[in-house]
Amino acid sequence: MTPTFATDTETTIPLHAVAPDGLDDLLANLPDSAASWSRAQGFKAGSGVAIALPGPDGVIIAALVGMGAPDARARDRFQIGKAASTLPDGTYALTGDLTLAEKEEAALGWLLESYRFDRYKDQSPAKAALIAPDGIDAGRIETIAAGECLTRDLINTPAADMGPTELEAAARSLAQTFGAKVSSIVGEALIEQNFPLIHAVGRAAEKAPRLIDIRWGNEGPALTLVGKGICFDTGGLNIKPGSSMGLMKKDMGGAATVLGLAHMIMALGLKLRLRVLIPSAENNIAGNAFRPGDILTSRKGLTVEVNNTDAEGRLVLADALTYGAEEDPDLMVSFATLTGAARVAVGPDLAPFYATDDSHAAAITTGAAQVADPVWRMPFHAPYEAMIEPGIADLDNAPSGGFAGSITAALFLKRFAANPYVHYDIYGWCPTAKPGRPKGGVGQGARALLAALPDLLDL
Ligand code: BES
Ligand code: ZN
Ligand code: ZN
Repeated sequence: MTPTFATDTETTIPLHAVAPDGLDDLLANLPDSAASWSRAQGFKAGSGVAIALPGPDGVIIAALVGMGAPDARARDRFQIGKAASTLPDGTYALTGDLTLAEKEEAALGWLLESYRFDRYKDQSPAKAALIAPDGIDAGRIETIAAGECLTRDLINTPAADMGPTELEAAARSLAQTFGAKVSSIVGEALIEQNFPLIHAVGRAAEKAPRLIDIRWGNEGPALTLVGKGICFDTGGLNIKPGSSMGLMKKDMGGAATVLGLAHMIMALGLKLRLRVLIPSAENNIAGNAFRPGDILTSRKGLTVEVNNTDAEGRLVLADALTYGAEEDPDLMVSFATLTGAARVAVGPDLAPFYATDDSHAAAITTGAAQVADPVWRMPFHAPYEAMIEPGIADLDNAPSGGFAGSITAALFLKRFAANPYVHYDIYGWCPTAKPGRPKGGVGQGARALLAALPDLLDL
């Protein structure tokens, strides 16, 4: 589902965004009934706290949403948007002493808070609707929200209904909406056309592995996005324990994120040549599964010793990155739920990313802060290259010891990628609801990248 702004402006309720130090002045200017109700409720303008205020006849005449003190604000982005879930039925018009950036964040947060995953069960929709605040680019915000909600829907859909076949169908439907071209290389054709690693990872599953390839736009710099599309990760023969496997429908979170980002780029009509590559497979178990100890020769010609079949993401990505790099794009960016180590290092809210170019890293960090899509730069630490070199093959997919697991995985990918290169090792899941981020699948790093694209590609 795609949340949008309210368009019926006939009966709107003013929603005052207010900081604690502005509350007394605001209440002094509201009717007595409303001001006394706010005081009686103990409203202190805490971050994200919202209340509706009655007129003398008990009908709602206004609402308040707290912005919190500045340090509380830093803890919670999208706090105004949270009111979408807590205010009563109605159409609200945001007012208050807000900068344009604050209004944009409130508006985006509101739409993202209103997301529901309703494919398997009717969910009560958010009843509080928002009129697009004055001055913001409402269409752009709706587009960004739509891209993010596509990402969430794809991640939330269980593997039985979101295997490689269905992921390809979703990519085709997105492409069709925007007149993009799609092709795919499926099953045995992966061997014939030299994608041995994608084939090896996916060959034991019922739904055939594939490489999905979308192209859109015919002018401007070339941007290639690559997303890990492992529709379910059992770990393969190195099977995951149940507790680690439970959430592995989200192992196509990278693919879901690049599709959501592609939606944003195409709907906004950015002047660039976009390519999206999704190596998709289910890492499953059968008699023909690839094994620990197998040495595979990648599309690039580098040999890889499989020391753990659970380190499958870097294998499928290696062939896709090689293929993308063959046409030397101006920028290559991958998104992947690649390592448990990334989650351990920075937790579920921050998206760790790697960049070959310091100025790219700076632009992404700045963009991330602007759009409340937090990221943290990690190093392509060259001295650790030795850790991914096993001796009897060019590369090891799972260095023993497990030191710096996210970094060694990133270094592995960099051997295959084009330059310049940015790589995100995302988690793709929000374990507990936060403002604008309901529990479940979530896009990470896409909005930060979108905000940085003008800098990265001189748009
Ligand atoms: N999909 C997992 C990584 C993952 C696990 C992401 C949990 C988010 C949450 C990936 O395929 C994997 O299992 N990686 C292994 C690599 C190891 C065997 C070198 C890992 O991180 O444990
Ligand atoms: Zn795995
Ligand atoms: Zn995986």
